Amino acid sequence: MKKITVVGTGYVGLVTGTCFAETGNQVICVDIDQKKVEKMKNGIIPIYEPDLDTLFERNIKANRLSFTTSLEDGIKDAEIIFLALPTPPGEDGSADLSYILGVAEHLGKIMTDYKVIVDKSTVPVGTAEKVHAAIAENAKTDFAVVSNPEFLREGFAVSDFMKPDRVVIGTSDDRAKKIMESLYRPFVRQGNPIYFMDEKSAELTKYAANSFLATKITFMNEIANFCELVGADVDKVRIGIGSDARIGKRFLFPGIGYGGSCFPKDVQALVKSGKEQNFNFEILNAVMTVNENQKTVLFPKMKNFFRGNLQGKKIAIWGLAFKPDTDDIREAPALYMIEELLKAGAEITAFDPEAMPNVQALLGDKISFAKDEYQSLEGADALLICTEWGIFRNPDFNRIKSLLNDAVIFDGRNLFDIEEMSEKGFFYASIGRNLIEK
Ligand SMILES: NC(=O)c1ccc[n+]([C@@H]2O[C@H](COP(=O)([O-])OP(=O)(O)OC[C@H]3O[C@@H](n4cnc5c(N)ncnc54)[C@H](O)[C@@H]3O)[C@@H](O)[C@H]2O)c1
Repeated sequence: MKKITVVGTGYVGLVTGTCFAETGNQVICVDIDQKKVEKMKNGIIPIYEPDLDTLFERNIKANRLSFTTSLEDGIKDAEIIFLALPTPPGEDGSADLSYILGVAEHLGKIMTDYKVIVDKSTVPVGTAEKVHAAIAENAKTDFAVVSNPEFLREGFAVSDFMKPDRVVIGTSDDRAKKIMESLYRPFVRQGNPIYFMDEKSAELTKYAANSFLATKITFMNEIANFCELVGADVDKVRIGIGSDARIGKRFLFPGIGYGGSCFPKDVQALVKSGKEQNFNFEILNAVMTVNENQKTVLFPKMKNFFRGNLQGKKIAIWGLAFKPDTDDIREAPALYMIEELLKAGAEITAFDPEAMPNVQALLGDKISFAKDEYQSLEGADALLICTEWGIFRNPDFNRIKSLLNDAVIFDGRNLFDIEEMSEKGFFYASIGRNLIEK
């Protein structure tokens, strides 16, 4: 059993804390958001993440998981302190380290015995050194700083954390290495590796992983756009290339651009880190440009269909989250579509299984929300699909037809078979495939 503190209880911190409690450790989570901490103290989980609620409740009941707003109380007995704090883009695109360095400085003032401080946030190369320096300014005790980037995917966060493909630990401190190894042992029982490396390599590993994935999806989006021009079908091309093991089947699905709290900011931050070394990440610059353009490919198709005039048109939207199985709407492509549609004078009724409260908090009554996917269609002139939630994949097409004013679907996630849509008599516009006209 280890005594652990997790500072920051967002998507990463809460999953980290809960999963460490689930393996028998004593975990205290610290957050500055008083309302959030109050909720958690009352057993209410502040985010949606599949399966997290069961573990959250179980570990609170077993007194292995607790919450506080006080960093001092939170770290008193801890041997390991995880920093799962935000690293949002600063004005120039670089990662804003003020949350992390602020907490590090505070830790230096209040630590009274040896602690391992772990950077779990995604941070640029050299951050471990900065965190070390910020703590050392006031520290009266020995401590180690470790870089342990997190690779979990929102929507699969619990299973990714409990059974990671790999664990990356960057440290040059032997004592910290042993502590981290024994902490992670229960998570790699099936033989997945724990890679030990220096701090800088660990920090860059995370940026390289996210930038590679963003590049892969962006490459496929560009192929999809070309498919439309030449009359090829991106689904067939995707299958054709994906069975080559060097390419792989995953992350080849085209859409209306990547979003979320990680890819956009991490690609941008890596490019900025490059600039600081007079190094130009040419591929990543192109990835950012292509992705921005990709968000815009569906809107002109809608505009064309309505002969340039969306004023007063009623649009139903299925899916608001940046991807399925999360309530996270940060940089969600749906938000871009909503903005464009509202500017053009359309009226929107949306449905998302989990993300509606977050969008309502952001947009208030600028759009309406439906109680389920079918209600959103009532009297609408078209359906727009922005997120590939499982429940949208096999809908009742007859019901869709009877509820819509006109059988028109714009699909930003290629959920349906184009031949089937043609047979059913829909106008169906998707990404990288032939347009189906009625
Ligand atoms: N979300 C993901 O899928 C994911 C995956 C891997 C890595 N990451 C990285 O992990 C880090 C955290 O991401 P997230 O999505 O969990 O962020 P988040 O915004 O969901 O959560 C951050 C939490 O930190 C709290 N906080 C802010 N300042 C604080 C302070 N001074 N003291 C205590 N708490 C404070 C906030 O109130 C919030 O609850 C980022 O660096 C991110 O890039 C995220």
